[in-house]
Amino acid sequence: MITLSPRLREIAASPAAVLRQRARELREAGRDIIELSSGNVDFPTPDHVVAAAHAAALRGETRYTDADGTPALKEAIRATLRRDHALDYAHDEIIATSGSTMAIFLTFFATLSPGEEVIVPAPYWAPYLDQVRLAGGTPITVSCPQNNGYKLRAADLAGAISERTRWLIINNPVNPSGAVYSYADLRTLADVLLRHPNIGIIADGLYEHFVFDGAPAATLAQVEPRLKSRIVTVSGVAKTYGMMGWRLGYAAGPKSLMDELRKLLSQTTSCPSSISQAAAIAALTGPQELLRERLGKLVQRRDRLVARLDRCHGLSCKAPEGTFFLVVSCHELIGRRTPDGQPINTDRDVATYLLDAASVSVLAGQDYGASPSFRVNFANPIELLDEAANRIAQACEALP
Ligand SMILES: Cc1ncc(COP(=O)(O)O)c(C=O)c1O
Repeated sequence: MITLSPRLREIAASPAAVLRQRARELREAGRDIIELSSGNVDFPTPDHVVAAAHAAALRGETRYTDADGTPALKEAIRATLRRDHALDYAHDEIIATSGSTMAIFLTFFATLSPGEEVIVPAPYWAPYLDQVRLAGGTPITVSCPQNNGYKLRAADLAGAISERTRWLIINNPVNPSGAVYSYADLRTLADVLLRHPNIGIIADGLYEHFVFDGAPAATLAQVEPRLKSRIVTVSGVAKTYGMMGWRLGYAAGPKSLMDELRKLLSQTTSCPSSISQAAAIAALTGPQELLRERLGKLVQRRDRLVARLDRCHGLSCKAPEGTFFLVVSCHELIGRRTPDGQPINTDRDVATYLLDAASVSVLAGQDYGASPSFRVNFANPIELLDEAANRIAQACEALP
């Protein structure tokens, strides 16, 4: 018999991954499922990126590379951090990883000891919590309610810090709420962090280009250079370039920590996919106009979906400033019963009802720390969003 490590007792599979599999299984069983629960964008990987990967494969770039990526990729990442955030990192302060997920996990894994805490503003991307637990630490969630714009306030950050705090993880723009921290917002957090020299900061900018009215979202190292030596700046090509499945992310931070992460990479993934690295170079250094075009489409989809869902019986929502996610409040549905008599006590019950009655898959607020609500992804074709909104409206009307 195979026995499991006690580490696994504390963690579950990523909620979005579970829903992705469930939607696929239901489709295979013949159900017409609209999947708004995923973190995918519907935009394809640009042709020139695919062509670069193809050319790399034909050239024979099919071998292991340095554990933390090729020098050419690190140069592309260095130039990107400079272009987007005016940040200067040397090659030995940069690592490329198999998705930014890996960079975040390895940072926790390399640094946390039992009892040490990581502050995670809620709502959050669920894997932050379980990654901290897997690394032996304790996640401390800090509620950032809608009336704070879903953003961490300086006073709440200060209140959550203890002697055991090792990290703050700050995601800008925020998955799932779509909140965008301005320069000024980050400034107030930086002032608190300057008073606590032993706390590191992971600045996760995976959605940094998904800001609807402006430049890429600011990142903390750019706002307060005095913090830079304890910041890990994380991003990746997944969302920006429609490259979720290529699995390529990166991190930049102090060389001493990056050296340890390189060691871990050499012992775990060996290196990111060589083909994906070639693709990422083309994405980061190639034409960037496509992003603006895609953002324009996303704004239209956002506005249409917000208008539709906000009118649904028992639901309310506001247009987010960034990402391609929308948090829909469903507190008026709590306490009702489905047409066949099942009680709706939680947002998980709402999500289950929408899947059963409307064949629409959404992520329940319980999975990202903001209940009662659910998250939908509007990086989907507009006709699909319309159809989803029709089905959701009908299902909500049917609740007595
Ligand atoms: C906030 C946030 N950070 C990091 C990631 C990881 O992305 P990837 O590993 O594809 O780079 C995701 C993916 O959905 C995310 O939502």
